This record gives sequence, structure tokens and C-alpha cells, in this order.
Amino acid sequence: MFFPKPDIIEDAYIKNYEEVYKYSINNPEDFWSNIAKELLWFKPWKKTFQWQYPYARWFIDGETNIIYNCLDRWLKTDKKNKLALVWIGQNLEVKKYTYQKLNEEICRFANALKSLGIKKGDRVTIYLPKIPEQIISMLACAKIGAIHSVVYSGFSVEALKTRIEDAQAKIVITTNSYPYKDKIINSLEKTIEAIKQSSTIRNVIIVKRVNEKNNNLNLTNVKFYYWDELTIKQDIICSTEIMNANDPLFILYTSGTTGKPKGVVHGHGGYMVGVYATSKFVFDLKENDILFSTADPGWITGHSYMTYGPLLNGITTLIYESVPDYPHPGRWWEIIEKFKPTIFYTTPTAIRALMKYGEEIPSKYDLSSLKILGSVGEPINPSAWIWFYKNIGREKNPPIMDTWWQTETGMHILTPLPSAPLKPGSCFKPFFGIMADVVDEKGKSVGKNKEGYLILKTPWPSILLDLWQNPQKYKETYFEKIKNKTKKFIYFTGDSAKIDDDGYFWIIGRNDDVIKVSGHRLGSAEIESALIANQKVAEAAVIGKPHEIKGESIKAFIILKHGFKPSEELKKELNLNVRMLIGPIASIDEIEFVEKLPKTRSGKIMRRVLKAQELGLPVGDISTLED
Ligand code: WTA
Repeated sequence: MFFPKPDIIEDAYIKNYEEVYKYSINNPEDFWSNIAKELLWFKPWKKTFQWQYPYARWFIDGETNIIYNCLDRWLKTDKKNKLALVWIGQNLEVKKYTYQKLNEEICRFANALKSLGIKKGDRVTIYLPKIPEQIISMLACAKIGAIHSVVYSGFSVEALKTRIEDAQAKIVITTNSYPYKDKIINSLEKTIEAIKQSSTIRNVIIVKRVNEKNNNLNLTNVKFYYWDELTIKQDIICSTEIMNANDPLFILYTSGTTGKPKGVVHGHGGYMVGVYATSKFVFDLKENDILFSTADPGWITGHSYMTYGPLLNGITTLIYESVPDYPHPGRWWEIIEKFKPTIFYTTPTAIRALMKYGEEIPSKYDLSSLKILGSVGEPINPSAWIWFYKNIGREKNPPIMDTWWQTETGMHILTPLPSAPLKPGSCFKPFFGIMADVVDEKGKSVGKNKEGYLILKTPWPSILLDLWQNPQKYKETYFEKIKNKTKKFIYFTGDSAKIDDDGYFWIIGRNDDVIKVSGHRLGSAEIESALIANQKVAEAAVIGKPHEIKGESIKAFIILKHGFKPSEELKKELNLNVRMLIGPIASIDEIEFVEKLPKTRSGKIMRRVLKAQELGLPVGDISTLED
């Protein structure tokens, strides 16, 4: 157990977790409405909360806009001259934006979007690497009430195409080429390929990350514009659209148990309140804080704790364009020494990878600006936790905020606070207003120290509003997996966990067919369908296996069609198929050619059995196994 030092407790907003938690559970609506009142609303809400199975809605009939609180409110104060965003490029080039300057860029781009006919409710796909325009476009969409859908720049043409189609986006914002380590990636070619048959895309906006123009921009029905040429003519003033608290703010696609990614929808009001509160209390944000999150806005952490959370709290967000060990394995520590962030938020995979380079590398840098460290995305093993605490946190308290949450929850759910005593490897207890439990499939608590399904028993403001155009799937995924006759709020997380004698939560991992590779969420079925797309493959089954650095690695079992023979070349070809259809993050680590796969009598592949066999674990109930 790691106890916080008295001065940390003295300094923290929350000095006694248990006391505030008790109050919040007894009065959740008061708790959340008091927090919401710290933010600005065009019109106050009539009702704080409403549960209509399976939808939880907050701040009913309230009117606001997340931008009203991220930007507009600060422009009336001295904060307008404070740095909102500091961007550091791969070669350490720096771009700095004060709140005022960021607002001007957002307004210009919002006006540009309007000039192309984008209005409230329209979907805008953002396919950009980690450059300031990625964040500016998200915020510009929010300002005019358009719905942003950020697609991770590492995703393939096919992945981009399905996301554009599902959202029926009208416009794509992309870049020409961008540096990625020592390579140059051409995003524009991929974008053009993805929209060739699109029936909805009318315009493409290109950010010139590398100073070159592409002369090959002709597609019927689609117009191409360069960001700088388009925005230079625009006004630096643009009004902020008044939004209902439950109007959508963004769609973010994430992998689930089926082949098709799900569009998680978040709104302006509840999402704003949840992200504001968790950023403030978990990272204990004060006026002079600088938050360095290593996430990418292609994923939820880049939305909640790199973009919206810091701006809602009026602090500075620091963004580094590239990866931790390029051009050298001390790059992050070099950035911390130079730019002096106070909070550093990263993933266990990155920590494990950097551990490999040894303690000497971080020891060369001055990391004394850091006050709080955070971890997210996958379970952090105690040895990585201790290494991070010792070598990066320099054993200062508070140690590591191991924050458990999901794209769907929008905000931290199980999380420590700086004043809490911590156990390495545990993500502490639920945030205020939230009750969580570990249960069996009937919804019965399994008791202390036993593994079961992690569920959330009370709602929180930033719960997803829905799955885009798929309410049925929403209901099935989150509210029907556990028996629930009374139709009370019981949210199924898809994770397995344990609760120890002190009430601390320990996450074991996913209990569905989601694989977490380096913290990236991938669906087994998604990868299998990419494999089956190869003419030589008859059947494929994919599982995740524990991996020392990446958390999980991908193993595929393949049955070939008659007449085709296993070979090393074929393995390479299959891997290439997956990289083309999903992206390099889904690269397969191991392929095994087999004659048969374990199936249920109804023909469903039992990945669970494959996994147990692969890991030498008990196979569990196999009464439904066909053979
Ligand atoms: C996993 C990422 C253990 C978990 C914010 C969850 C974690 C999934 C942690 C959601 C953590 C996230 N400890 N596991 N601190 N944080 N996870 O949607 O399995 O990309 O269900 O959101 O990541 O992944 P997603």
C-alpha cells in the first residue's frame, strides 16, 4: 500500500474519498448538478436525471455547448492570453496557441465548414494525424453543432471507408502526407481511395503537413480544398451554436464482438460534466497545470483527457506528434524536461516498452515538474507500476492514477484520486456517484476476491447516448448480457474483475471477444473477416494471448480451402491482408494452420476453448461443443 504524503492531501480538492463518495452515492443528482453548475449553460436543465430503459439521460432540456465552456468562457477573462495548446512536432518544432488564438483558429475553420454547407447535426470525418488541426477541427465541429467522427490515422482505407459510410459523413478532413518516424505516410491517397464510391462525401479539406501540393485531385462530385487557402479568407468570429444537453457531440467508432465497429455517441451536456469533473479531481487540476497525455484523438483518451478535459478546466494541454522512442528512447523524458508538464498520462504498453531501455535513460533528465502520473487502456502490472513510480515519478507522491474506463463511459469510472492510498495494479474504487460490482451471469455478486463480470449499477453523466443508428445493438451489448427483469440500470462493461477485502478493484481483462493490443481495442471478428477475405482461407479464428509488452498479442488459427497448402509466404500474405483491411495495429503475431476448429453445434467457433487450450488453462464448460 502506498500512502499519500500529508502535503498532497492538504493540497488536493478531495481530501477524504470515502466521505465524499458516501455523500455522492446518497445524493447522486445533487452531486452531479452541483458540478454542472460550475459550468455555463445557455438555459438550465429542468430535470437532472431520467432513466427510461435502456437510456440514461442527464440535464434534461438544459442548453449549452461544450465549446461555450472550453473556449468562450475563458475569452472573457485573463485566461485568454494563457496557453491552451502546445504542440510539439516530431523534430521538436513547436506551435503554441493561447486560448484566444485557438479560438480564432476554431472560428475560422468553423466558418469554413459553414461555407461548405456543414450545419448542425451533419457528420464530419476527421482523418488526421496528431497535428493541431486535428483538435481544431474537432472543436470547430462542436462549435457549430456538427458531429465529429475522428478516425485514427493508422487505420486503413477499408476501415476509413466503413466509418465514413456508417456515419454518412458529408466531408472528410485529411492531410497530404505526414512524417511517421523515418517514413512519410500518404493519407490523401488513402482518403481518395476510401471515398471513391461514397454517396455522401461532397468535399475534402487537406491540411498540408508536408509542404507539397497534389495535382491529382479529380473525383467527380467531390471538391478538394487546402486548409490554409480555405481558412485564410474566413472571419475570426463565429457564434457558438446552442445545443440541447443531449444533442450528439461526436461519434467514435470502437471494436466490439461483431465484425463491424460500433459508433459510440456522446453528447454536449452529460459528457462535458463527466469529463470536467474527472479531469479536475483525478488529476487535481489547478491553474498552472500542464497536462501531457500521450494519447491520440483517434481514441477516446485523446477526446476526453487531451482535448475536452484540459480545456474545460482552463489548463494547458501538451501534445507530442510522434512515438515514445523516436528518434531516441528518451524523447518523452526530454520533452518533460523542456516543457515541464505537471501531469503525465500514458499507457502500460508504453511504460513496459520504455522499461526495456533501462533506468539510465530517464535518469539523465530533470522530471521534477511532474506531480501526477496516470495510466490507462489496459491493466498495469505491478512491476511496471513500480518502475513508473520510481523512475518517472521519482517516488514522489501521489503515485499513479490507474484509471479504468471505456469509450462508452466517456470518463474515468474506477479511478484513484491523489489523496487515496494505492495498491500497484489496482485501479482503486469507483468515482463519485458510481456503484460498481463483480457478478455472475445472473447478476449475483460473486463476493470478495472472486473473479466475475464487472458491472456498473448506477449511471454517470457521460454514459454513451446510443450506438449510431443501432439502438438494438446498444441494448444487447450493454443492458441485456446480465439477467435484469426489473429493467433497473445495470451496465455490462465486458470486463472481468475482482474486488479485494479492502474494496479495491482489480481488472483482469475483457471477457468478450475484444483484444487489447498495446491498449488499442480490436475485435476478433473484425480480424477474422479480414482473414477470410483471402480466397485461400476457409475459416479463421482469432484470440488474444498475454504479451510481455503489448499486453496482448494476436494469434490466428486458419483452416485453408481445399487445394491450398500452409507456407511461410501464405502467413505473410495473410498478415498483409489484415494490415490492408484494418491497419498495422492489427498485425498478427502468430498464425497456425489447423484442420478443425472447436465449434458449438450451431456452428459458432468457440474462441474461449482455443484460448484455454493455447494457454494451458481449464477449458471450462464444453457441453455445447460439437466435437
Ligand atoms: C481496458 C480506453 C485495466 C478495459 C479508455 C476496458 C483497462 C477497455 C484500463 C476500454 C485500466 C481501460 N486497467 N483495463 N486502467 N483502462 N482498460 O474503449 O478492458 O479503448 O473495457 O477505452 O480498456 O477500451 P477503450
